[in-house]
Amino acid sequence: MNPKSDWIEKAKKAAACEAVKHVKNGFVVGLGSGSTAAYAVEEIGKRVKREKLHILGVPTSYQALMLAIKHRISITMLEIHSTLDLTIDGADQIDKKLNLIKGMGGALTREKIVAAASTKLVIVADETKKVKALGEDNHPVPIEVLPMAVSVVMRKIREIGGKPTLREGIKKVGPVITDNGNIILDANFGLIRKPAELENKLRSLPGVVETGLFVKMANLVYLGKNTGVEKIAIER
Ligand code: 5RP
Repeated sequence: MNPKSDWIEKAKKAAACEAVKHVKNGFVVGLGSGSTAAYAVEEIGKRVKREKLHILGVPTSYQALMLAIKHRISITMLEIHSTLDLTIDGADQIDKKLNLIKGMGGALTREKIVAAASTKLVIVADETKKVKALGEDNHPVPIEVLPMAVSVVMRKIREIGGKPTLREGIKKVGPVITDNGNIILDANFGLIRKPAELENKLRSLPGVVETGLFVKMANLVYLGKNTGVEKIAIER
């Protein structure tokens, strides 16, 4: 590991450990996806074992399900628990108002459903994820789309000023297929000045299942830095 990625991994883990302090006995917890959320799932598993906590997890992806099983966290589903006490998840970009871009791991739809069912959404990330405005550095917005609608949605995205590309697999030829059997488009809109407006435009396109824009959803962010963990809270 090079020195840069070494501090980033430590920062991600430290942020995840801070977030897991919010988990209390009896909680139903949304288990996020991605490499930072994975540290949180691991830490929840450690607390369950050490403190004999009775908690139930709702996985946001196949990855989160596998990790929950590995770390012996009991699982429930939204059909049984439609209200969650807390979700801990990662993010790809975080702006000053704690609006987010998520979905570089392709789990955005389940992540958004689980987050919306939660009383509190706590985000864990390293400080490289903090931006002045979403879309900085040409970061794309992941968009989950029904397969038969892909070419129409791509055309409509271009019409509203985006540059969409089809997400393709690594170690698998052709498109990435989500846990829901859909396609992911990564659409570059440049700097996103009005995330809520863009979100509404995208959501109104038939065939769009969900977008990676999480507007006014996060309550708290733990940002891992080289020097410690910063806590950023916002009133909703
Ligand atoms: C997956 C996500 C992840 O939470 C996001 O991509 C951050 O992942 P990582 O912590 O590995 O950087 O939204 O769909």
